[in-house]
Amino acid sequence: MNRYLIALTLAIWVPAAMAAPRAIPGINAKDAYPAACVDCHVKDMHLSTKLARWNGTVDAKSLAAIQAFAPKGLTLKGKHPPVTGKDIPASCLKCHAAMAKAAPPLAPLLHGIHLASGDQSDFVKQFQGECTYCHKLNKTTGTWSIPSGAEK
Ligand code: HEC
Ligand code: HEC
Ligand code: HEC
Repeated sequence: MNRYLIALTLAIWVPAAMAAPRAIPGINAKDAYPAACVDCHVKDMHLSTKLARWNGTVDAKSLAAIQAFAPKGLTLKGKHPPVTGKDIPASCLKCHAAMAKAAPPLAPLLHGIHLASGDQSDFVKQFQGECTYCHKLNKTTGTWSIPSGAEK
């Protein structure tokens, strides 16, 4: 390879190879929502308020959209039991556990709500669909967890 070709090759791939890594909250960038759910669902986003709209009067389109994330054999009525907002998501998981039959398991329900509609989702539009706004990496042990707490 002559000098010009080497220079040309470097000019093409060096900038790409040196590009700054994507900023991932909690991994290589600041996490603005360290308490997960309750740090983001504040004010008019309070989950206790949001869930109160599921009182049996919700429109058929919204109900059909959420039904998609429920297990086979569970037909949602669109009527939610009262919630206090004291310990989210731990209190949710008491009814929405992974093997729950009477309520949709929380993982597919929340992944569906926040991520499944892609660019149409406000979570993707406003928060880049970041997994780490809910899932927190313990950098010492390499394990994941989801913090739980009271509504602010
Ligand atoms: C960084 C912000 C953020 C975090 C963290 C977050 N959410 Fe959300 N959540 C949103 C946004 C934005 C929406 C609206 C999604 C849409 O409709 O496009 C939403 C929607 C919801 C809804 C639907 C409410 C309704 O009926 O309209 C529920 C339930 C929900 N979130 C629960 C949770 C739980 C539980 C957690 C924690 C495990 C959580 N969220 C973490 C931003 C967040
Ligand atoms: C006491 C049990 C219980 C608790 C606690 C609970 N849920 Fe539910 N949840 C249910 C049941 C039962 C359904 C199915 C209701 C239906 O048929 O529409 C449901 C359904 C839902 C739905 C689908 C909409 C609907 O009403 O059908 C969402 C979203 C939801 N729950 C989110 C949450 C979140 C977030 C929390 C914690 C803040 C929570 N739930 C706490 C029992 C519970
Ligand atoms: C809005 C909050 C939220 C976001 C965002 C989120 N998760 Fe989750 N995820 C949860 C919850 C809640 C659970 C269930 C925890 C439990 O059951 O103890 C879960 C469980 C999981 C599980 C194990 C259960 C399963 O579904 O297999 C995987 C894998 C997972 N998440 C991957 C991801 C990935 C990948 C992303 C980003 C693309 C992501 N999650 C984004 C809330 C979230």
